[in-house]
Amino acid sequence: MMSVPDISSAKHKANPYPLYARLRAEAPVVRTVLKDGKPAWLVTRYADVASALKDPRLGKDPYRSLSPEERARQVPWTPGFFRPFTKNMLDQDPPDHTRLRALVHQVFTPRRVEELRGRVEAITQRLIARARARGAIDLLEEIALPLPMTVICELLGIPEEDWPRFRAWTNRMVGIATSVDMVLAMPSLYMFLRYLRALLERRRRAGGDDLIAALVRAEEAGSRLSEEELLAMVMLLVVAGHETTVNLIASGTLALLDDPEALDRLRREPALIKPAVEELLRFTSPVELATERYTTEDVAFGERVVPRGQRLFAVLGSANHDEEVFASPERLMLDRDPNRHLAFGSGVHYCLGAPLARLEAQIAFPAIVQDLPGLRLAVPRSSLTWKPSSILRGLDRLPVKCAAAPVYSVPRAPRPPEAGAPL
Ligand code: HEM
Repeated sequence: MMSVPDISSAKHKANPYPLYARLRAEAPVVRTVLKDGKPAWLVTRYADVASALKDPRLGKDPYRSLSPEERARQVPWTPGFFRPFTKNMLDQDPPDHTRLRALVHQVFTPRRVEELRGRVEAITQRLIARARARGAIDLLEEIALPLPMTVICELLGIPEEDWPRFRAWTNRMVGIATSVDMVLAMPSLYMFLRYLRALLERRRRAGGDDLIAALVRAEEAGSRLSEEELLAMVMLLVVAGHETTVNLIASGTLALLDDPEALDRLRREPALIKPAVEELLRFTSPVELATERYTTEDVAFGERVVPRGQRLFAVLGSANHDEEVFASPERLMLDRDPNRHLAFGSGVHYCLGAPLARLEAQIAFPAIVQDLPGLRLAVPRSSLTWKPSSILRGLDRLPVKCAAAPVYSVPRAPRPPEAGAPL
């Protein structure tokens, strides 16, 4: 049996693809022990990943495969205050998942999301102008992060003065890989929940036209949404709504800087943007592993059988680099067609925010390549580091330089705003 190194480590994240190529060739369905000390199966071939994500025998509820007696013995007790963490729709199976998803689906359809275009463009232009005025920035902190963060916070109706706290809390949440991390993160998680509960209370009293207010109305309208589920939904949207897109924009920019021909082509052919974003999604795979699933019965992948009651991860980053499906998978081909990547997952949990993520990326990348002239890394390529993470893949930071805008071209901003100043 092939031994698998720690796939949540910063070292692995720097270049996961040679390992995945070996796994696909030699051990495409492999049992290993992850950083949390618990066993898990990794599925790495495109065909197996695609079928795993659609297979109803792979559930999100770890206890569905257990008998009632086994359940009573094994299901840990969660203190009431923290129960929302176990109630988000990404961790639910139908019919609960179906009910929860229906409540938010309307807000994220391509048509509704298109209405945000003007706002996303305005936010992007502001961030780009600020970057140009400075000439040297950390593109991750100053463009890739504030863009999706601003959009999701505005959609939800989170006051601007609270965004930095939000960032700190969500960072803490996605950084949890082991039970020790969980214990250490408890104070932050407690503060996060307390804050959200107070926010819900304010909406109950004063109403509003944002997404949180709409969810509160759904909660009040009857049995469709419990308060725990409501809190869980808000947390899920905040975390899923920006940690992922941040990685697409930052890792995607790095992929373009690594391939000057591709960068130049995108500058010259802006009409390429739609297929280019799909290719950047495939190439960078910001969600490297789909979240965990559990086998409710024995499940065969070709000749390999994963027994009932096992934890399984479908490795999206590996599927997206599978040479059986993508010609020259390690090449960035901005006009790749067809491009049936799995960066947004598949099946019932297919990314709810895909239309929004696409819109943000289709606006951000042209602005980055067109409006930051002479864009280049400000540090040696080898000094860039990646965040340790159980399922995401993203850079720690991306210091870049561009030609600073001459003073006369920014007449309305005689003094460049400070980083972190309100948009
Ligand atoms: C480039 C950006 C993004 C990527 C790569 C991405 C990727 C994914 C993937 C792979 C899944 C499925 C996970 C699984 O099956 O285990 C997912 C689910 C989800 N994503 Fe995204 N996502 C992105 C942006 C967003 C945004 C902007 C939102 C905000 C609204 C969002 C909200 C969600 C939600 C709510 C789910 C759970 C859906 C469900 O359980 O039915 N995502 N995303």
